[in-house]
Amino acid sequence: MAGADEIARAELDALRTRGLLRSLEPLRSPPGSEIELRPGERLINFSSNDYLGLASDARIAEALAVGTRTWGAGAGASRLVCGDFLPQHELEAELARFASSEAALLFGSGYAANCGILPSFAGPEDLILSDALNHASIIDGCRLSRARVEVYPHGDVGAVEKALRAPARRKIVVTDAVFSMDGDRAPLRELAALCSAAGALLIVDEAHATGVIGPRGAGLAAELGVAADVRMATLSKAFGVAGAYVAASRAVCDLLLNRARPLIFSTALPPALACAARASLEILAGSEGDARRSRLWSNVRRFAAGLREAARADSAIFPVVTGTPDRALAMAAHLRELGILAKPIRPPTVPQGTSRIRFAVTSAHTVDHIDRAIATLRAC
Ligand SMILES: Cc1ncc(COP(=O)(O)O)c(C=O)c1O
Repeated sequence: MAGADEIARAELDALRTRGLLRSLEPLRSPPGSEIELRPGERLINFSSNDYLGLASDARIAEALAVGTRTWGAGAGASRLVCGDFLPQHELEAELARFASSEAALLFGSGYAANCGILPSFAGPEDLILSDALNHASIIDGCRLSRARVEVYPHGDVGAVEKALRAPARRKIVVTDAVFSMDGDRAPLRELAALCSAAGALLIVDEAHATGVIGPRGAGLAAELGVAADVRMATLSKAFGVAGAYVAASRAVCDLLLNRARPLIFSTALPPALACAARASLEILAGSEGDARRSRLWSNVRRFAAGLREAARADSAIFPVVTGTPDRALAMAAHLRELGILAKPIRPPTVPQGTSRIRFAVTSAHTVDHIDRAIATLRAC
């Protein structure tokens, strides 16, 4: 029988042949709109989800440092054992206020949250309707639930309406608010109306909408006045920190605390990180956050106009679809030679045949950054 090393080499060769091999390359500079990869190689960064430029904010770093000195580096245990500290509760109370929800509950990451939420509500007798372009963590949460999962064509409200007619103990519709690799918005109003008529639950992943869309950056559901049963948001993207939270009723949060395995069986987010996220929330939800959002949206409009896609300035995410993985790799390499970091996105992150370069615009980009990216793209 082949050993692990032999198996790994064969699998890696197969990935390489298909243009799907991935590898790491560390940044030599802090996160930002300009970064250094190889020594002396300065690149304009269009691959980060740091939408408001907060990941390297000195005030947040200081809150993390003070939090660490006060509370230590790690939580030491799961929240339900002895990893539960005051800063996590204080952050949850502020996040609930921010999200206008009764309660909020922290998770170690957005990935962990989605893997915990769906199995907490759905089992083998239940039906989950999941958008075809939902994030991998939602797909995995659906699988872990062992519910019947129907993947509906992307954004197809008619298909959801039809699928909701099927019998099931519970019915759940789950969707990204802003789709992570396409940047378009889910039809949340229509989905909420269908869920309400069918007695189904609506679960929304606001990872790419939080901090970016809605009043004070409260997300797409807040922007549209849609009441979702469960809203998940990350602290890792516009917040510039790490972790995630669910905004929902107290009972929903309590159920998750009792059922969500990634929460129960994983060490809690360090309390110092909660201190950093509080500092970030204060900026993100305040007037400075508004100013950063205004710069972000001005950059989004400029980028969209440059791509001649002004009608699709729905979010900070712009896909440039190349088709094959090899073409995405070649285009990313070419962009990099010209000073632009825009990473190739390939299956399984996106469906076969839709490999792409994903540009993410942030408030930290200057007009010159945007114009150089557009000019470089044209040159490619
Ligand atoms: C839509 C969506 N949901 C969830 C996640 C996972 O969040 P996190 O990076 O905090 O694990 C991501 C990002 O990777 C995402 O794009």
